[in-house]
Amino acid sequence: MTEFKRPDGRKEDELREMKAKVGIIPNADGSAMYQSGNTIAIAAVYGPKKMHPQHKQDPKRGVLRCTYNMNSFSVSERIRPGPSRRSTEISKIIEWSLEPVLDLDRFPNTVIDVHINIIQADAGTRCAGINAASMALAHAGIPMRDLILSIAAGKLDKTIVIDVNKAEEDFKEGEGSTDIPISMTSSGEITHLQLDGKINSKQLKKAIEMARKSSKEIYEVQKKALKESVNLE
Ligand code: CDP
Repeated sequence: MTEFKRPDGRKEDELREMKAKVGIIPNADGSAMYQSGNTIAIAAVYGPKKMHPQHKQDPKRGVLRCTYNMNSFSVSERIRPGPSRRSTEISKIIEWSLEPVLDLDRFPNTVIDVHINIIQADAGTRCAGINAASMALAHAGIPMRDLILSIAAGKLDKTIVIDVNKAEEDFKEGEGSTDIPISMTSSGEITHLQLDGKINSKQLKKAIEMARKSSKEIYEVQKKALKESVNLE
C-alpha cells in the first residue's frame, strides 16, 4: 500500500501555518485576527451593552450574539453580500461553541455582540472564526473559564488528517472527504462537533484525539497573542 499524500504535502497531523493578533480594531471592546494558511478571520466584540429591543432582554443572564459573515471577496467566486442560510447556521454554531466557557450570569439584560468576518477563505472558516472570537472575548475582558480552540479534522479516503483546506474538502478519490470541525476547551472538553460525510466510530475517535493534540498548538498561539496585546497596552 502506498502512503497517503496530502495535496499540499503536509503531514497527517500538521496544521497550516497559524498567525494570531489581538487588539486589531481600536474602537471595539475586544478584537482579534486568526489565520490558518489562507483562511483569515477577524472578530470584534462590542459589549456587554443593554439589549434592545427590550423584550429580548433576559433578566437572568446576558445574551451572546455572534454574527458570522463571509466577505464577498473572500472566495474566488464572489458571494452575494448579506445573511444567508449558511451564515445564520454558522453564527448559531459559534454561539453554542463559546457559551459554555462564558459567565453570562453576571450580565443580566445585556447583549455581547461578536462580529466575525472572514476576509479570506480556504476552508475551516467557522473554526478560524471561533478561534478569533475566543481571543476577542478574552481581550474584551469578558469573564471566561477557558479559551476555546477550534480545528477541522478530516478523513481523506481512509486517512484521518488535521486542518482540512479547500482542496482537501473537495477531495474525491476513494471514499472522498469527510469534514469534522471540532471546538474544545484547553482541557479537551468538546463544546462543538459537526460531521459532514461518512466515518466509522474508530476513525472518529482517532479524529477527536488528533484534534485534541492540535488544539494544544492553537492554545499556545492564542495565549501568545493575548500576552503580546497586554504588553503593548
Ligand atoms: O469554511 P468552513 O469549512 O467552516 O465551512 P464550509 O461551508 O464547509 O465551507 C468550506 C469552504 O468552501 C469555505 O471555507 C470556502 O473556502 C468555500 N466556500 C465558497 O467558496 N463559497 C461559499 N459560498 C461557501 C464556502
